[in-house]
Amino acid sequence: MNAPETIRDENSTARSPEHFAARFSRMLNDAAVVIMVSIGHRLELFDLMSRLPPASSDVIAEQAQLSERYVREWLAVMVTGGIVDYDPGHRHYTLDPAHAACLTRAASPDNMAVTAQFIPLTGSMEDRLLDCFRSGEGLPYTAFPRCHEVMAEDSQQTVVAALESRILPLIPGLQQQLQQGIEVLDAGCGGGLALLELARTYPCSRFTGYDLCADAFAETAALAASQGVDNLTFEARDLRDFSESSRYGLITTFDAVHDQPDPAALLRGIAGALRPDGVYLMQDIAGSSVLENNLGHPLGPLLYSISCCHCTPVSLGQGGPGLGTLWGEELALSMLEEAGFVDIRREYLPHDPFNVYFIARRPDPRPQ
Ligand SMILES: C[S@@+](CC[C@H](N)C(=O)[O-])C[C@H]1O[C@@H](n2cnc3c(N)ncnc32)[C@H](O)[C@@H]1O
Repeated sequence: MNAPETIRDENSTARSPEHFAARFSRMLNDAAVVIMVSIGHRLELFDLMSRLPPASSDVIAEQAQLSERYVREWLAVMVTGGIVDYDPGHRHYTLDPAHAACLTRAASPDNMAVTAQFIPLTGSMEDRLLDCFRSGEGLPYTAFPRCHEVMAEDSQQTVVAALESRILPLIPGLQQQLQQGIEVLDAGCGGGLALLELARTYPCSRFTGYDLCADAFAETAALAASQGVDNLTFEARDLRDFSESSRYGLITTFDAVHDQPDPAALLRGIAGALRPDGVYLMQDIAGSSVLENNLGHPLGPLLYSISCCHCTPVSLGQGGPGLGTLWGEELALSMLEEAGFVDIRREYLPHDPFNVYFIARRPDPRPQ
């Protein structure tokens, strides 16, 4: 996904009710379009339209096997929202190739319609969140419809598609070690698609995925079994007391630490579970721990919104600290240091502007 423009300029321009009202109207329209983009993505309407010549709503609805009346109303949102072009003479609709390049499955890992799904998903939690605001309590993962499904789709784009070409090469020599055979753990693995990809690519290594929610990885585990992938194990496990001894050559967490009930304990557990030459790869949200440093963050409102509606309540709901999505790189770094990690470095990958990749080594257990 390409990084969007910052909204800092919008915030800092001269203030007047007229200016703000105009800006807010744009925000209302954009929010409405994003919800409808999510629907279009789930119904594969963009994928269909990218393959069709200019077509009527009848043709689009028939090909999609959907109700024409609903498809025509959805198209009206897409046309007025500037996503789809309309030829009034023929009543034909067209998806411009430039827009298809950001909204279709064929465009993956640059399909921004995947990300659009977070808006209706978080919005659907409004009633439960009102109670959370009043009580200070959190929510269980099970309260969120489609949470694991959307995360897995997002991970397919940001992690799975880039593992071989971009993410593993961040650690020199790792691909050779995986070829020779090491133990790998993905903690908070969710859908486990990254592990499945790794297990297929590196048959001499063994892969383990732990996640609190068995339903998150159930489908991937079944797929792996049906394909005879026998070097991959998933286990439903609460990582709040994670502790294993010097076993893994590689431990990964993809966007999983800040949701935890005890993130500091998990980091200590990971440090202890690495072999002496093992390495920890932590992908987490890019940004600062300090609000004012995020004023120019290109995805600031989106990330704080996902935090308020999901990441904070799921941590609080487990008795955790509720670090939030934008717990920030300063805090992440200091927590890695406190957990005893050494040789910590940060990497940024252009395909994934949401995230930072921390690479850290386990502390040397030998006395100095
Ligand atoms: C934001 S999701 C990321 C999932 C996956 N790594 C990915 O990138 O798609 C965070 C994951 O942490 C898991 N998780 C949260 N609390 C946990 C706990 N106490 N023990 C184990 N897993 C937990 C959730 O079930 C969820 O799958």
